[in-house]
Amino acid sequence: MTIPDRVRSVVMPPIDALNSRMAELLAQGCDVTSLGQSVPFFGPPEEMLDAVSERLRSSPRIHVYGPDAGIPELREALSDKLARFNGIAADPVSQIMITPGSNQAFMVAMLTLLNPGDEVAIAAPYYFNHHMAIELAGGRVVEIPLSEEDGFQMHLSDIKQVITSRTKSIVVTSPNNPTGTVYDPAEIERIAKFAADRGIYLISDEAYETFCFEDSTPFSPGSISEIADNVITLGSFSKTFGMTGWRVGYIVGNSEFLRQAVKVQDATAICAAIVSQVAATAALEVFDTFTFSHAQELEDRRSLLADTIDAIPALNWERTSGALFAFVRSDFQPTKRELSWDILETSGVLTVPGSAFGEKWSNYLRISYGCSPRERYESALDKLRGYFEISKSK
Ligand SMILES: Cc1ncc(COP(=O)(O)O)c(C=O)c1O
Repeated sequence: MTIPDRVRSVVMPPIDALNSRMAELLAQGCDVTSLGQSVPFFGPPEEMLDAVSERLRSSPRIHVYGPDAGIPELREALSDKLARFNGIAADPVSQIMITPGSNQAFMVAMLTLLNPGDEVAIAAPYYFNHHMAIELAGGRVVEIPLSEEDGFQMHLSDIKQVITSRTKSIVVTSPNNPTGTVYDPAEIERIAKFAADRGIYLISDEAYETFCFEDSTPFSPGSISEIADNVITLGSFSKTFGMTGWRVGYIVGNSEFLRQAVKVQDATAICAAIVSQVAATAALEVFDTFTFSHAQELEDRRSLLADTIDAIPALNWERTSGALFAFVRSDFQPTKRELSWDILETSGVLTVPGSAFGEKWSNYLRISYGCSPRERYESALDKLRGYFEISKSK
């Protein structure tokens, strides 16, 4: 059996392997804490759980397929939220499609847009699932090199260096995974207008739109009315509402794009799970109150991480102010295995190796300050400090 290179060459991110090892260590009675996954510490709103419990028995419609593009009440509620929070005008019938998570939304966008060999420009370090989806769809990844010195901001000048006549799309992920950078809105606007001038689709991944700290604010290029047709906005309920397992995301785009994209959705998923769409509709009702109720806690955790890193001479974090992560450079590398694995084995703290986000970043760690319960988080930071103390004295 021959598996095509398009699939064979795709590299799996190490998260599953790290999680499996963590499960083994826990089963052996070791004390292990994850600062790895991009899963918020909070669960979904009570209002959402109540609405779903009620509908599970009262609404037979919940147990069968629904419209490919999503249930009308969710698309309408989303259209309202997009107008209020993002400044995006999107017709709920022709411009919004609900997907089983925003990873699926990205894959749908790739399968809809790309001819074999078409290029997609993504910032490096990159979110590994973007990289995988481009390759699986037969596209070619073009990396936009970002630098740590200016906090991994994306610049139009860097994009101009890498685009070619084959570039089909530029991906902007802000707040960013893995760096946590919130891009400068004025620069995103310049990038979006440049892309529109060239007929290159701008894909804006806004999965972390509600995780902006200090004075940073999210910005949706789909709100720029004169080029809105050239922007594909991807959103997610996963992080905002602490409901990663429910798998709900969405795509917003021009109606012709959506008319084509719905074919991919039909062929791959038919529709997002109806029970999850009902849940998402209820969650949107408390968007204004729920989403920002965790901001202070996350700000505090971010400060704790900054203090911890400041106290470890081998680590450096150019402060970024969004998502749930710090992308941290380490001047110390163990000899016997990769740093992140060594920290897991010797100190029981799970972090994600920088190499997951591109080969060049192997001396970095992605540390999530948002995923563990507060006490476990604080003790994991102590353990991290202890790990580097011992390593220094070896
Ligand atoms: C930048 C980015 N986009 C999308 C996703 C996927 O989210 P979802 O759960 O909606 O598929 C993630 C998940 O970690 C992410 O980091």
